[in-house]
Amino acid sequence: MQKILIHGGKKLTGTITISGAKNSAVALIPAAILCDEETKIYNVPEISDRDNLINIIETLNVEVKTSNDTITINTKKFKNTYIPETLSSKLRASYYFMGALLGKDKYVEISLPGGCKIGDRKIDYHLKGFKALGATITLEDNKYIIKADKLIGNKIYFDFASVGATINVMLAAVKAKGITTINNAAKEPEIVNVATFLNNMGAKITGAGTSKITIEGVNYLHKAIIEVIPDRIEAGTYIILGTLLGENLLIKNIIKDHLTALLSKLNEIGASIEVNGNNLLINKSEKLKAFNITTLIYPGFPTDLAQPMTTLMTQCEGISILEETIYNNRMGQIKYLNSMGADITTKNQIAFIKGKTPLYGNDVVASDLRAGASLIIAGLIANGVTKISGIEHILRGYEHIIEKLTQVGADINIIEE
Ligand code: EPU
Repeated sequence: MQKILIHGGKKLTGTITISGAKNSAVALIPAAILCDEETKIYNVPEISDRDNLINIIETLNVEVKTSNDTITINTKKFKNTYIPETLSSKLRASYYFMGALLGKDKYVEISLPGGCKIGDRKIDYHLKGFKALGATITLEDNKYIIKADKLIGNKIYFDFASVGATINVMLAAVKAKGITTINNAAKEPEIVNVATFLNNMGAKITGAGTSKITIEGVNYLHKAIIEVIPDRIEAGTYIILGTLLGENLLIKNIIKDHLTALLSKLNEIGASIEVNGNNLLINKSEKLKAFNITTLIYPGFPTDLAQPMTTLMTQCEGISILEETIYNNRMGQIKYLNSMGADITTKNQIAFIKGKTPLYGNDVVASDLRAGASLIIAGLIANGVTKISGIEHILRGYEHIIEKLTQVGADINIIEE
């Protein structure tokens, strides 16, 4: 079994360059199959989620060429087929093939999606959106069959501004007849990235990035390119790390406006961060004050940074409180942080973190992607040796994490044990 081995306590100095956003790339790749010609996606992170999506696309007889961080996708020989559980269960974002295939071919046969086990993660809003466009849905033996004779634009309202449902309905509606509006749409930057890609193909989408998205259906989508936006969650993870271990740590290729909630919070507690255009310089802060966070939809504090934040909170003076409101089971890192010396109690999805406590290396398990990020941060600040198992979750979402951290001075590597 592969594990991450960390000898903690090293200062981090030098440059980390942020990669393309996982949660954009995993929607842009399925979106590309809607195109009737060839598309190119630039700045795609080399993560296992990318490889798993490429495997799905290839079963659809779609030609994919990968060259470094660029993917070229050609749908000329597209042939719709069942996406089996062996492929769909590898990641959450396989559900974007529901919207993309429905939009392209009015027929989808796909098994249940996988992804991190951080809560119920229902997809009822996605399905409600497809139905509103005229689709019928059956679920047999863990397999969805979603089909329509015609897709017709409609007014859709989500009870909760779901990222996945917003993107999925956009994908399904892009070639529907007439106008679709998505009300209470999610506003995350990844949604704007996907809408831009579709518009580059000739789609007519307005309002992405606001809570009302309007999609006027078109018949044909032509050749287009798109660049994946920088990963705000990867950037946030390294920024958090920099506040604990940075010595002139330069984080390059960020979009500051996508990080407002995190940077404001870190500013409030006394972190030393200088932003200069798309770069950011961080130095370790000797004294950090306890603080509170409630996770919210964008532009509120992102749930995907809450777990890394709990590690930071262990190093702040006083009692910090973190409330997770998006998922109902996203505290998988807490027991392992406690096993390393943290003093954290939880009540439902609220964590009470008493700091500052020294952390000591231990054998821990990454229960999901961001829990893994939180434990890597813990291992890097801890005294002694930390071994993390469950690293497949981490490699799903952070491009070249071992190399990036090693390059700035961390003592971290992957071992076989
Ligand atoms: N929800 C429903 N019904 C739905 C859809 C969502 O009840 O039909 C609930 C979910 O159960 C969850 C909440 O709404 O409690 C949020 O779900 P959302 O649909 O917004 O999230 P998602 O699309 O499944 C994406 C990211 C997540 C990120 C969230 C929120 C991808 C592949 N995943 O998930 O990323 O946490 O948006 O920003 O884009 C991660 O990167 O670690 C990660 C989990």
